[in-house]
Amino acid sequence: MRVLVTGATGFIGSYLIGGLLDRGHHVVATDIVPTPEALKGIDRLTYMRADLTQAEGVEGLLDESRANCVIHLAALLAEFCEAVPARGYRVNVMGTLSLLDACVAGEVDRLVMASTPAVFGRGLDEPVADDANKVPETVYGQTKLACEHILDWYRHKKALRVSAVHFPWVYGPGRVNGLTAEYSSKLLDAIALGREVIVETPDAVGDWLYVKDAVKALVLLAERKGDTPQVTYNTMGEVHSVAGAMAIAQEVYPEARITIRRNKAFHYPYAASFDDSRARAEIGWSPDYPVRRGIKDHVETIRKRREAA
Ligand SMILES: NC(=O)c1ccc[n+]([C@@H]2O[C@H](COP(=O)([O-])OP(=O)(O)OC[C@H]3O[C@@H](n4cnc5c(N)ncnc54)[C@H](O)[C@@H]3O)[C@@H](O)[C@H]2O)c1
Repeated sequence: MRVLVTGATGFIGSYLIGGLLDRGHHVVATDIVPTPEALKGIDRLTYMRADLTQAEGVEGLLDESRANCVIHLAALLAEFCEAVPARGYRVNVMGTLSLLDACVAGEVDRLVMASTPAVFGRGLDEPVADDANKVPETVYGQTKLACEHILDWYRHKKALRVSAVHFPWVYGPGRVNGLTAEYSSKLLDAIALGREVIVETPDAVGDWLYVKDAVKALVLLAERKGDTPQVTYNTMGEVHSVAGAMAIAQEVYPEARITIRRNKAFHYPYAASFDDSRARAEIGWSPDYPVRRGIKDHVETIRKRREAA
């Protein structure tokens, strides 16, 4: 396939590129930033710079890329959407609309999008099912819910194959954006670098999905023949409190200096656990990285990168 990846230089995108190339696909990576050095001179990889809020450029992007599949990751995450809601809507909602129109106008068979359990809001029975009531409390959740509705419309009115996945706390080396990076990736980065780990939100509970599993879910949907029974699926990892995950990290790395210091109010406006049984039954989803394996891969990857630098 020729796969156009938006948000390709971001955290998940940078792993997705490798995952797609490994499976023999041609990747057209796109993002708002100039071509990163790391993406130059790679076989079967083309980089195209584009701002998805510039609708006129997006159609040209699809034309030039000759992509038959789009994996759409470009978005502003929660803190940026809360800071400037209008920009959140411009990028996340209007950007997605432009992309969908360009897909319909072009040769694209399928679009897969990363969404979020932030679409659900609070107060629901857990684990939250895919079709639970969606009343997002954050602007980020609102923009992603609007996108899920739009995908549904394009599926029914334009016969475009569309799917989306709700990712929980995606962690892995290189995660810098997003609220949950503070509770997960950045703590593991500190362990890898031999720094003291101060855990300020030990009681925060979330579902830990390793970034390689997030890539697995996206590729699974991108390579699928035919429509998925639903548009959107919960695709989950393992539920742990931050303290629980750090206890596992401590077992794996007894020398790690992990200190619990409860001094941060925990304002996390989302549920903690979600039911991904539909994704397992209908699209064959299952994660490969239980949290112990994910923590090990995260820490070892950072250490290898540091040695190589
Ligand atoms: N990381 C998580 O835990 C998580 C959880 C749920 C859903 N998601 C979703 O997964 C996707 C990727 O997340 P990530 O963690 O890699 O985020 P990220 O912030 O690292 O990457 C987002 C990318 O989008 C690009 N972008 C922003 N505005 C743009 C514009 N106007 N035009 C073109 N590109 C633009 C950015 O440059 C960035 O590279 C997002 O859609 C996010 O909502 C992430």
